[in-house]
Amino acid sequence: MRLGFLASHNGSNMQAIIDACRAGRLAASPVVVISNNADSGALQRARNEGIPCYHLSGRTHPDPEDLDREIVDVLLKHDVNLTLLAGYMKKVGPVTLATFPGHVLNIHPGLLPDYGGPGMYGRRVHEAVLAAGARTTGATVHVVDAIYDNGPVLAVRETAVQKSDTVETLARRVLALEHALYTETISRIICGEIRLS
Ligand code: GAR
Repeated sequence: MRLGFLASHNGSNMQAIIDACRAGRLAASPVVVISNNADSGALQRARNEGIPCYHLSGRTHPDPEDLDREIVDVLLKHDVNLTLLAGYMKKVGPVTLATFPGHVLNIHPGLLPDYGGPGMYGRRVHEAVLAAGARTTGATVHVVDAIYDNGPVLAVRETAVQKSDTVETLARRVLALEHALYTETISRIICGEIRLS
């Protein structure tokens, strides 16, 4: 399994998966990292790990169609067969989705379908969870389709919301769940327990 990553910021989910590959806990190779943010932690982590990495964004490719095609070209060039969004804050283009149908995954810091969709990312999810007085929150891994946070759910991990929770404590706890859940989900895909269409 050759893994490609799309990440916008810190890249801690990506790092958790890379670590699992390096430690032999995941029969997969991280082969390329793409970020829309030239200064992202994700690109720095890729450089530290010696993984080929690219900054591809509206700055490098002002035409969205060109950008979409370039992302596909890079993923194909590195023979990627599973693309993982890891804190990627951009919509995946139609050419990418058509080239890798059912093989682009995302992790979301909430329990979909609640607290998902446009504008629902990062700490905003935890703010909404607290504002709604939800009893549980968690992380969801799903297949990416043309609509934000909409594709089939592959795996979920929950945690109870405590009265004392703040956005920061929830963000920390859910992120730790994400690291374990994303890695385990890929492992279940590799061993055939979860089948991608
Ligand atoms: C993670 O919590 C991830 O679920 C979230 O961004 C964070 C990235 O952290 N993604 C979304 O909100 C996408 N809707 P990381 O860069 O440290 O992996």
